[in-house]
Order: sequence, then C-alpha cells, then structure tokens
Amino acid sequence: MKPIYLTGIKPTGTPHIGNYFGAIKQAIELSKNSDYQNLYFIADYHALNSLKGKEEMQRYFKELACTWLACGLDPEKVLFYRQSQVPQTTELCWVLNNVTSKGLMNRAHAYKAMVEANVNLGKDVDDGVNMGLYNYPILMASDILLFNTKFVPVGADQKQHVEMARDIAKAFNKKYGYTLVVPSEVIEEKTATILGLDGRKMSKSYGNQVPLFCDEMALKKLIMSIKTDSSLPTEPKSTDCTLFDYFKLFGTEAEVENMKQRFAEGISWAEAKTKLFEVANNYLKPMREKYNYYMEHFEEVIAILEKGEEKARAIAKETMERVKQAIGVV
Ligand code: TRP
Repeated sequence: MKPIYLTGIKPTGTPHIGNYFGAIKQAIELSKNSDYQNLYFIADYHALNSLKGKEEMQRYFKELACTWLACGLDPEKVLFYRQSQVPQTTELCWVLNNVTSKGLMNRAHAYKAMVEANVNLGKDVDDGVNMGLYNYPILMASDILLFNTKFVPVGADQKQHVEMARDIAKAFNKKYGYTLVVPSEVIEEKTATILGLDGRKMSKSYGNQVPLFCDEMALKKLIMSIKTDSSLPTEPKSTDCTLFDYFKLFGTEAEVENMKQRFAEGISWAEAKTKLFEVANNYLKPMREKYNYYMEHFEEVIAILEKGEEKARAIAKETMERVKQAIGVV
C-alpha cells in the first residue's frame, strides 16, 4: 500500500492568499506524486468552535470546497471528503480520549493561550473555554489515525498537534498492542508567513486579508491599499516590503528580477502596485474562473465529495474494526 499523506483545513473564513501559498499550493503539488496516496479533507467539526452558526458553516464550507477544486485538486487522485461525513472520526475520538492524559491537553498551545489571556484579564482561567477547544487535539488525532496516516503536511503552527497525535497513537499501541500507524509531521519550511496588506499578520480581526478569489476590481483596490513607505516617486526603494513580498509570490523569476531592478532605479509606488495587480491577476484568473464555476454548480462539488466520503468511510470502518478488536468491544 502507498504511504498516506493526509491533511485538513477547517472552514473558518473566506480562503485568502495566505491559505493558498501557505498550505493549499504545496498540498496540490504533493498530490501529483503518484508514490503516495493523498487524503485531503474539510475539517468542519473543528470549525464549530470558531463559527457563529449555521450560515457561516455553510458559507465557509462551500467556499473552501470550491477553492480546493479550483486550485487543482484532482478527485481521481486525491480522496476528498468532509470530516463530518465520516462518523468513525468521532467514534475513534471517544476511544482516544481514554488513552490521552489531561495533562497533555493542558499543554496545547491554543488552550494555553486562552488560559493566559484569562489570567492577564483577571478572569477565571477557563472563561470562554469549551470542551471542543480543549479536546481539539484529540479530534485531530482521530482524523489522522483513522486513515493509517504516515505523513501530515502542515504549517509550523500545527506541529504540536501532530506531535500529540503521535503521542496518542503510541499510548494506544502501548496499552493494546500495535494497532495504529504512528504519524509524522511534514513542515513546509520554505513558505514564509504571508503578511497582510498592512504588514501585520494576515488575520480576519485586522481586516488585512486578500481573499484568493475576489473579483478583479476588488483585488485592484486591495493591492492599491498595500502599505508602503513615504519614499518619493523617483527614489530607489527597498525590496524589504510587503509589496515586493507579494510580487515574489505571483511573479515569474524573470518578472521578479526585473522588478528588483525597477525598485533600485526608483519605480513609483503607484506603478509598482499596478504591475503587482497585473501579475497577481494573471496568476489568479484561471483559478478564479474555475472557482466561480464550482460556486455556481455546487451540486457537482457535493457529488465529488460524496464519492470521496464513501471511500473514506470504507477505510475508516476497517480501522475502527481493528480498534474495537484491540479494546475488546466486539
Ligand atoms: N488543525 C488544523 C488547522 O487548524 C486543521 C486540521 C484538523 C488538520 N484536522 C487535521 C490538519 C488533521 C492536518 C491533519 O489548520
């Protein structure tokens, strides 16, 4: 059997260029290697914690599913599915709860950050913390262990979660005998963090995100709003800026070299922004067209997911039977 590469993204917002260059692009490239079997899923149950309600869930799920396909996910090669449609995920999660120490969960970064914020505000340590947040790493371990995953390609922020999945698999195997494949994270080192329009971390709360598939006019407007320094139109400019970083994402090597030259010569910010818009728009346009197609023909997307889900459930069923056998509930 081919080694399994598995990763998931949770539908918690409109996909932006940070999601694409930070995760989706590499995942698609990895899936072209036929030595591996790739499983990519939408972690909708993981999103529950951050969403206001049903409308957000439906909207962000739809946008994320269309994004994966628009970016080139080939459902003939990749098993593409929704976490919520594989009920064995939550079944395994309960079993794993029993081999996971509470202390391990106390150390999870997201939980710890909430506790620290509460302490600083003089609130109760667990104010605003629900069990979904607290157990988040165990659900993620289920996603991974259910499919005999060998490798989990993720951003550096998810390293701890994969380490926890590994600890949980080992704890299970120690108690019940070897049953679960022990996974490793694959951290994409090359991708720098993509900053927002104002040079701060790209975040919904800062309103500085660039949606991957907004229309041309909106893209232009966003690019024109990139924060630049106050150097005059003819002055040489430093390439150490958000505008140039974006240019590197979208431009070919030759285009980037050329722009570097123009920066040294003193291109105006206005012209540099216009050039960036052209390059970015050319890059995104074919994907945007596919995205708009899928958004309008969403029934095709659902049909693709359903096919993936059927296959995913077959694998999950097999693992769950092994787990039940191991713990003695058959
Ligand atoms: N926690 C991941 C994130 O926030 C999403 C995720 C859920 C995931 N389950 C996973 C990633 C399993 C990799 C494998 O980005």
